[in-house]
Parts: sequence; structure tokens; C-alpha cells
Amino acid sequence: MAQRLSQTPEVWTPDESVTTRWVQQSYEALREKAAANPAAFWESEAKEYLWFRPWERTVDDSNAPFYQWFVGGKTNIVANALDRHLTNAHRNKLAYIWEGEDGSVRTMSFHALDREVCQFAHVLRSMGVRKGDRVTLYLPRVLELPIAMLACAKIGAVHSVVYGGFSVEALNERIQDSESRVLVTADGGFLRGKVIPLKEIADRALERAGTVEHVIVVRRTGQKVAMETGRDYFYDELMTLPLGRAGGGRCETEQMDSEDPLFLLYTSGTTGRPKGIVHTHGGYLVGVAATLKYAFEPRPEDRWWCAADPGWITGHSYVVYGPLINGMTSVIYEGAPTHPYPDRWWRIVERYGVNVLYAAPTAIRGLMRFGEAWANRHDLSSLRLLGSVGEPINPEAWRWYHRVIGGGRCPIIDTWWQTETGMFMVSPVPSMPLKPGSATRPLPGIRAEVLADDGTPVRLGEEGKLVITTPWPAMLRGVWRDPDRYVQQYWSTFPGKYFTGDSARIDEDGYLWIIGRVDDVIKVSGYRLGTAEIESALVSHPAVGEAAAIAMPHEIKGHAIWAYVLLRAGHQPSPALAEELGAHVAREMGPIAKPERIEFVEALPKTRSGKIMRRVLKARAQGLPEGDVSTLEQ
Ligand code: PRX
Repeated sequence: MAQRLSQTPEVWTPDESVTTRWVQQSYEALREKAAANPAAFWESEAKEYLWFRPWERTVDDSNAPFYQWFVGGKTNIVANALDRHLTNAHRNKLAYIWEGEDGSVRTMSFHALDREVCQFAHVLRSMGVRKGDRVTLYLPRVLELPIAMLACAKIGAVHSVVYGGFSVEALNERIQDSESRVLVTADGGFLRGKVIPLKEIADRALERAGTVEHVIVVRRTGQKVAMETGRDYFYDELMTLPLGRAGGGRCETEQMDSEDPLFLLYTSGTTGRPKGIVHTHGGYLVGVAATLKYAFEPRPEDRWWCAADPGWITGHSYVVYGPLINGMTSVIYEGAPTHPYPDRWWRIVERYGVNVLYAAPTAIRGLMRFGEAWANRHDLSSLRLLGSVGEPINPEAWRWYHRVIGGGRCPIIDTWWQTETGMFMVSPVPSMPLKPGSATRPLPGIRAEVLADDGTPVRLGEEGKLVITTPWPAMLRGVWRDPDRYVQQYWSTFPGKYFTGDSARIDEDGYLWIIGRVDDVIKVSGYRLGTAEIESALVSHPAVGEAAAIAMPHEIKGHAIWAYVLLRAGHQPSPALAEELGAHVAREMGPIAKPERIEFVEALPKTRSGKIMRRVLKARAQGLPEGDVSTLEQ
């Protein structure tokens, strides 16, 4: 294997000591067996988890693309993430080590986490939340976020987490679309020493969303917030109520059908309206737990640190559900990697003896910029594996991460996946030879292809569209209340195959190289934003008539947003107005959506049918030829 790979210029082969699980040959044998019969592979994985009632069919494709998994089975992801550990050796093990940006530390064992989850489940029930009801969680990176997620799942409610960096408009849309009955938020959150006024933003979002009956407020910053009598309650006050006393504070875990929804997670698509991606109890549980086990080979003594926010899919799958199901101890850090100095992450690795760090390339590039001295002053020898997610990792960042942080010993597990896939899809395992910038090959039980527009496979090395050709257990079960959009968006480009929205190439070793999005989705610092959402935030300003947003390459963020704005009559372009428009987008959508640059234009390039040609704007911005402009309105 290693010899064949040496045709390509840069291959790094890990030392045998990094893996306890596989020698490369046995992994290859497993992959082949799984490729021959993916359903049988997933069935054998599913048997490792707790089911109240076994399933009758592993996968039902009779109504494709509305696939169902583990049909007829009953389980609850919380029975696997918590309940199961209360009677085994993990009971008193730490589930979480949490460090606040201000340096405070909080730890929680599986037992203690279960107590909190049970109490909060009672609180939700006492507010009338029932199986199938939606609850929106809008919180900073605090332990109450996993607690609230688990409490919802435990009673069969559907959580919809809205990232704490989003703002009024984004929150409002997500509450409305999900018709949530309860909102859980905080007085504020800390970031870079500043306070984000979450409750204030939530109140503004609620002015325009009518379904929420109760708001629960976690006290984090201690700032004064407005509380509406009868609607708003403080979390800590509710958590001391004598609920569920008859059961000794325990709360029974609801038995759910495999296909019952577990959560909605909104993500940006090609239209202005974000999509509520639906995941379920049964398939998602099997998918996230198994992929974490294969890609990162957790060891019982490990300290696992997925540095993503639980508010994104990475956090759902690999801060909350995957690690807990695998009985792992996770580190959660509340704040910014550079606060108060650029060695904050390395300090955390050293302090808690982190063994596996899983982070986004944008964070690595951001820290790289400060030079290696910040890392070198810390003992990082506890690290065994490093991970990467969210966007392609450029070889330069790969090498720095590998050499400076991983001491030249740690493989970089570059995992390609999406909100929609729920779990890792393309990823190495620790024993695999690596090529910087490639997420290597699909995991066992996953089949991927790179296709030309006519649906035929591209030749080796050629760019094409990445598709997944067989269903997988943690696949999205649709777009919330929009089945047509699900079919249209994912299954109509190449009928019968799932289209990822990404372009990629495949090399002579079958390694995949992800190039990037081919739709109107922009990845800024690994965060996913839709051009249409940014444009509609701009147009909601009274001075703006029309707007177009494009992605431009950026050294640290991967991509940055550039916006082109056509003003309404009576408004004059000025640097002050550009500034104001940027602030307006940040206020409406959240600071991550703020354009890097705003340019005023007299006209936008459009097709004759009125569609903005972002491709033309991008070519102009990069000083490149405009390509085929025959459809351009003259
Ligand atoms: O373009 C791919 C990129 O992120 C997209 C999915 O974004 P999101 O749903 O926000 O999920 C991010 C976390 C899983 C993909 O369509 N992407 C994700 N991981 C990688 C990646 N691009 C290259 N390499 C990766 N490892």
C-alpha cells in the first residue's frame, strides 16, 4: 500500500503505535466486506447499542429517497448516551471538563450529567413539552447546552439548536419554521472578553415569532435582563424545584421509534430560507457512534477535545452524542482560541492532557499566524491524534498542525461530512497513509463517486461532483416540512444518488480531494452561509435596492464575503454607509455574516430572466475572464 502511494509526491505514513485497532490490511478487508453489503455492515454496528425493541428491517428503500433505517426498532439516543453508562464502569467517569473563557472550570461525571438531564427533562415536561414538540436552544458554549439537548431527547422532544453567534433575523426564522414552544437561552455569553447579549437578541426575535410559550434563561454573565412575568424563568431557579421526587429525581427515558425525529438543525442552502435538516434517534445514533469509533479509535483513558460549538452539526455529533455514547471524556472550552493570548488552546491541551484534538482549518490557520513559539512553550506530548473538519485543509496548514502541534507523530484525521450526512463520511483511520489536503477514502459502509454533469464517473484526477450512492444510517430524513425541497435539492441532480453540493477529484489511490461548494453556499471560517441569506439581510436595510454576495479566497477564513450593493434612489455611496450596512448584516444575521468588503455598483450582472450572475462578479473581482456571458442581460 505505502509503496503504491509513493507515486504521489507527499505521503505521510503513521507509526504503528498510533493504532491499537487495525493493521492496515484488516481495515482494508473490513472496507471491502462492508462495500459488498453496506446494510449488513450497519446492522452489525447497530447491535453494539441498546434497543428497547430490535428492528425488523435494517434499511427500507421502498419509498426512496425517503429511506428509513432500523425500521420497527425502539430506542432512545439518551438510553445509549447516558442511561447505559449508569450501570457500568463509566458511571463516575467524567463526561465533560468545561473551561470558561474567564478561566473557571466545571467538571461533570456521567452520573452528575444524568441528574441534571433528568431534572431539566422534568422542567420541560412541567411546561407542557411533549413527545414531538420542538424546543429551540440559543445558548453560548456552556454545559447547559448539552444538558438541554439531552433532556429534550430523553422525553422525545425535538431540539433545534441555533448557534449563539447568530442574531435576531436568523433566530426568528428558525423559531418560526420549527414552531417551537419553548426557547432556552442565556442572559449573555462571553466571547473575547466581551459579552454577547443573548437574551436581548432573543427578545427581539420573539417579538416577531408567536409560538413560544416559555423562555428559560441560563445565568452566565450575570448581567441584568428583562424578564417577562409568566413567560420567562431562570434556569437555576427551575432546577431546584422539587420535580420528579417520586422517582428520586430520575426521569424515565421515552421509548422512541428508530425513525422518530431527534433534532432539527438549520443550515444554509441556495435560497434565502434556511433548511431544517431532520435527524432521527435510531440511524443517527448508530452512525455517529460507529464513525467516531473508526476514525478516532477512542481509548478509555482518552481526553477528547472537539473544539467545535455544540450549536453546529460537528458539536451535535462529536461533542454531545458520539462521545457520550462511546463513554468518552470531552473537553469543552467556552471562548476564543486567542483569548487572552494565542496559546490558550495549547494551554488547555497541556492542562488536561488532551489526547485527541479535532478542530477546523480556519482555527489552525488563525493560530499559525502568531508563530510556533506560542505552541512550543507548552507540553503537547499527550496528543495522539489530530482532526480537521469543515473545509479543505491546505497543505501548508496541514504541515504546521502536524509538525508543530502533533510533534510530527500524530496523524491528521481529515473528516469530510455535512450537516446533512450527520456523521463522518470520508475520513482516514489512524493507521492509514495520509496525503496533506485529502480526506482520503470513504469509511466502511459508505460509497462515494465523482461524476461529470452527464452522470458518468470522471477520469482520475478530473474535477467532478461528489455523490453518495447508497444510503447510510445518519443520513438526513428530509427538510423539515418540505419534502419537495429534500428531493429537489439532494436527489434530482443525479437521480437515485445523493448530491453533496461539493466538487472533488479522485486520485490513482482512490483518495478524494474536496475542492469546495458548487452552489450558492459560502464557507466562512468553516461556517456555512447562503449568499441569498446575506443578500436578504442587506436588502432589509432601507438604503439598499439590490445586493449580491460572493465568496472570495481568504488566507485565514478560507473564504470571505464580498458584497455588491445597488442603492435605492436618494441614497449616496459613502464609506460611512458601507460601514453601516456591514453592521446591519451583523446585527440581523450575526457577526460571521458581515461582509469583508462592500462595494457600491450602478448595476448587477443578470441573466435575461433576472438571476444575478455571481460567477461574473467573482471573475471580475479576481481579474479573471468572465467566461460564457451569452445569457447576460445587456
Ligand atoms: O463543502 C464541504 C465542507 O463543509 C460542507 C458542509 O458544511 P456543514 O454542513 O456546515 O458541515 C460542516 C461540518 C461537518 C461540505 O459540503 N467540508 C466539511 N468537511 C470538509 C469539507 N471540505 C473539505 N474537507 C473537509 N474535511
